[in-house]
Amino acid sequence: MAPFPPPPVNTIDWSNVGFRVREVNGHIESHYSVKTGKWTPLRFVADPYMRIHGMAPALNYGQQAYEGLKAFRLPGNDTIAIFRPDRNAARLQHSAEFISMPPVPIDFFLDAVKAAVALNAEYVPPHETGAAMYIRPQVYGSSAQLGLNPPEEYTFCVFVLPTGVYHGTHPVKALILDDFDRAAPNGTGSAKVGGNYAPVLRWSERARNEGYGITLHLDSKRHEEVDEFSTSGFIGALVEGDAVTLVVPDSTAVIDSVTSDSIQHLARSFGWKVEKRSIKYTELPAFQEVMAAGTAASLVPIRSITRRKSAALPARPRVSFTSTDETVTYTPDGYDHPGPLCVRLLDELKGIQLGKLEDKFGWRFEV
Ligand code: COI
Repeated sequence: MAPFPPPPVNTIDWSNVGFRVREVNGHIESHYSVKTGKWTPLRFVADPYMRIHGMAPALNYGQQAYEGLKAFRLPGNDTIAIFRPDRNAARLQHSAEFISMPPVPIDFFLDAVKAAVALNAEYVPPHETGAAMYIRPQVYGSSAQLGLNPPEEYTFCVFVLPTGVYHGTHPVKALILDDFDRAAPNGTGSAKVGGNYAPVLRWSERARNEGYGITLHLDSKRHEEVDEFSTSGFIGALVEGDAVTLVVPDSTAVIDSVTSDSIQHLARSFGWKVEKRSIKYTELPAFQEVMAAGTAASLVPIRSITRRKSAALPARPRVSFTSTDETVTYTPDGYDHPGPLCVRLLDELKGIQLGKLEDKFGWRFEV
């Protein structure tokens, strides 16, 4: 038998992996029937396409949830480990419940994710690149159903592809979206469902055309508190002398970010404080650094946060105003590096993910 894992393929320029869809060997699939109450055994399908009825609720009513997690090659390239898949398994169950889908059992999820990585192992990037295999599990209502009732059948599948980080590694300008609410106050904001993402597309595209690499949502009810970035969680860092406090939003409308949770653990291990609480928009100038944390994003340094048509911010050193905008700047113009807190957190996170540092929290699941 050939040794596992196989070396990375030489058909990809590993120095420039980027963040886009690439062909791999195939995906993992299983189907659930309400009649039997069971998931079919996991099956490898050597094809990126899914067979689905055109009247499936996934396509018509948005009955769909997904996950995002990553696998890395450890030093020496002969071991692959998946980062905290147990957390994603639990989060997928949370999302599925929101949209009336059966839970994927935790161990079944872990087996599926491991199988998807193992059967595409030659597409896990070389350790030295720091890049990862992005894993995208999905569950959706797949049998035909016209009425607004949960259908009889569901599909669970796991896709994988090699990627670099979303948003890159340089400080990114953020724009607050005030004309659009991501999640209703008692809505699906904490569920990782496609319906939370598609409505953002036109706003994030517009923001990108205006030079903003990332968009930020405030609470839908009052637009007074920070919720999350469209692609990732919000982290603000307060610094007083030598004391560092990370502040993360306590909101029922945000996704429970696995990366943010990991960053919070690391911060505590450095002796920093972590506060999970509501974050007023007017507090933004108090932060020394702001970061966006997510699986795809990893940890993105935020250069500045701009808001249109508001005069809510008190005049402070970090705040600048134009006739239409107010902007809080964290990274001075012309400086293109993450702040020191972001660097320390990211080095530690990547060190653990890539197996350069001890796995002191038990986060690496070997394939
Ligand atoms: C992830 O970070 O895994 C996500 O699902 C965010 C997505 C917009 C790429």
